[in-house]
Amino acid sequence: MIAPSILSADFSRLKEDLSRIESSGADWVHCDIMDGSFVPNISFGFPVLKAIKNNTKLPLDVHLMIVEPDHYLQAFADAGASVLTVHYEACTHLNRTLQNIHQLGMKAGVALNPHTPVELLRDILPDVDLVCLMSVNPGFGGQSFLQGTYSKIQRLTQMCQQIGHIPLIEIDGGVDDVNASLLKQAGASVLVAGNYFFSHSNPRQAVDSLRHSEVNRSA
Ligand code: DX5
Ligand code: ZN
Repeated sequence: MIAPSILSADFSRLKEDLSRIESSGADWVHCDIMDGSFVPNISFGFPVLKAIKNNTKLPLDVHLMIVEPDHYLQAFADAGASVLTVHYEACTHLNRTLQNIHQLGMKAGVALNPHTPVELLRDILPDVDLVCLMSVNPGFGGQSFLQGTYSKIQRLTQMCQQIGHIPLIEIDGGVDDVNASLLKQAGASVLVAGNYFFSHSNPRQAVDSLRHSEVNRSA
C-alpha cells in the first residue's frame, strides 16, 4: 500500500492536494502529528485533521509523534483516524494504549525511531496491527533515507514469522522510487511518501512507480 504524507502538501490548498492523493490511486492519507516535545517540530492538530477527514474518502493513517498520547486517543478517534500509530518511545504502558486504541475502533500501530531495535516489540507484536519503522529521525519531511532500515525490516519479518502474527510493516521517511523495491523485497507492506509524492509532477505515476518498482538486478 502507498500512503502519501500530507505533511508535504501545500496547506493553503489542502483540498486540492487531497484530490491529488485520491486521483493518484493511493491507499491511505498519512497524517503526521508533531507536538514540539517528542520531536523538534510542530505540525497540525485536530481542526486540520477534521478538515482532512471531511475532504477525503481515503482512510486516515495517523502517526502520533507526541508525548503522552493516551490523553488524546478518544479525540483522534473522533477526528476520524482509521489507523492510530503511537511511538514505542513515548508509551510507558504500551499494551494498555494499544488496547484503548482497539476499543475505540481503530487499528493500532507502533512506530520505532531509527535507534530502537525491533526486538523490543517481541512481546507486544500479537497486539499490533501495524509496525511503522522510521527510516529518518522523525520531525521533518524531505530527509535522507537511513540505510539501516533494510536489516530492521528483515529482522522484524523473521520475528513476525516466528511468532505467527504478521502486522503491516510501514516504512516512513525518505522513501522514493529508488529504495521502494528494496523495501518491498525486505518485507515492507506500506510505504509512506511525502516529499517524493508531492514533488512529482504526475501523482498517479508517483504512486505507480512506488508500487510497481522492481529491483534493478543489473545495477
Ligand atoms: C517524518 C514523518 C514522515 C514524513 C515523510 O517525521 O513521520 O511521515 O512526512 O516525509 P518524506 O517522505 O518527505 O521523508
Ligand atoms: Zn509519519
